[in-house]
Amino acid sequence: MPGTSHEVRLVVRPEGLPEPDHFAVVEVPMPVPGDGEVLVRNRFFHVFPALRTLIGGSVPGAPFPGLRPGDTLYGKAIGEVVSAPSDAGVRPGDLVEHWFGWREYAAVPAGQCSPLDGTLPDPAAHLGQAAIAYTALTRDARLRPGDTVFVSGGAGGIGSLAGQFARALGAGRVIGSTGSPDKAKRLVAELGYDAAILRGTGGRIADQLAEAAPDGIDVLVDNVGGEQLRAAIAAARPGARFALVGALAGQLSPDLAGGTAPVEIDTFQVILKGIEIRGFGGSTGPAANREWAERFGGWLRSGKVTFPHVRVAGIGNAPPALHEMIGGRHLGTVIVEL
Ligand SMILES: NC(=O)c1ccc[n+]([C@@H]2O[C@H](COP(=O)([O-])OP(=O)(O)OC[C@H]3O[C@@H](n4cnc5c(N)ncnc54)[C@H](OP(=O)(O)O)[C@@H]3O)[C@@H](O)[C@H]2O)c1
Repeated sequence: MPGTSHEVRLVVRPEGLPEPDHFAVVEVPMPVPGDGEVLVRNRFFHVFPALRTLIGGSVPGAPFPGLRPGDTLYGKAIGEVVSAPSDAGVRPGDLVEHWFGWREYAAVPAGQCSPLDGTLPDPAAHLGQAAIAYTALTRDARLRPGDTVFVSGGAGGIGSLAGQFARALGAGRVIGSTGSPDKAKRLVAELGYDAAILRGTGGRIADQLAEAAPDGIDVLVDNVGGEQLRAAIAAARPGARFALVGALAGQLSPDLAGGTAPVEIDTFQVILKGIEIRGFGGSTGPAANREWAERFGGWLRSGKVTFPHVRVAGIGNAPPALHEMIGGRHLGTVIVEL
């Protein structure tokens, strides 16, 4: 066992988007687990956009505390148990999921460690956003066979799975948005999308969506908000169901603080079309949790879906990985592998 560990800390709260030099990778003494704590050697952790929100101070009502200069970043991680109290329910060598990412070793309260049960073929896939994508489609938007589905942020951690899941669940047509022409091609070639639309340089989103879905959309999985939500309302068919999951247009804008993506929406259209707009409701208990994991695991094993992700090696590369994720460099979930 080494005597020290490394972790990533916020050095300064940035004006605008975070850059790698707003963070420091520091050497700290090896954590000593207290009563009821498990010592975990992290193997993977998730690089995710809500960190921008946390760095901006978080948003009212969010379950996660904001980050201040000097704080160690946190987020979902997969690690191997090094030592555990005898009643912790895990043993040395077990793989567990927890929220003490962005560090090599963590002392984690036993109640906050979930052992991996092998339902997913690759431990790293537990850092994928399958629970969100599956729940948004099946519980919030209640996808029906034949539906036309629009996934905003279609190439991201959630979107790269939501598009594939929509297809696997019987959608008739699936459209995704992304920020790069290269990823737009990959959405269609690799992830089963029928069409991709481009934010930023591709012309008005509403026009692109009208062209990609000439008969309108039934379902929206909205990771972006802002202009893309407004365009989805314009394109909605009567009785369309919208699951609002994220707010990337606000979160990752250099001009905003990491919170919402302000937009004016046409409420007459919402009323006239009877559009149902639901905030993501989260997973609803052990049965629902088993369901997404078994479906995702089964689809991965059969090859029906893939887990699009990028692995970045070493904690020293974690701050650049965050910068690249925000800049849209990668497709799928971004993971640091230790
Ligand atoms: N409700 C919940 O419980 C819950 C849980 C998890 C995540 N979320 C939220 O869901 C959303 C998606 O999460 P994710 O993990 O799948 O993120 P993600 O899509 O992987 O986020 C990174 C991507 O955001 C896109 N992006 C960058 N700047 C943008 C901008 N200004 N406008 C729009 N898109 C931009 C880029 O993709 P392109 O280049 O392809 O556009 C980039 O690759 C986030 O808002 C996240 O916080 C919610």
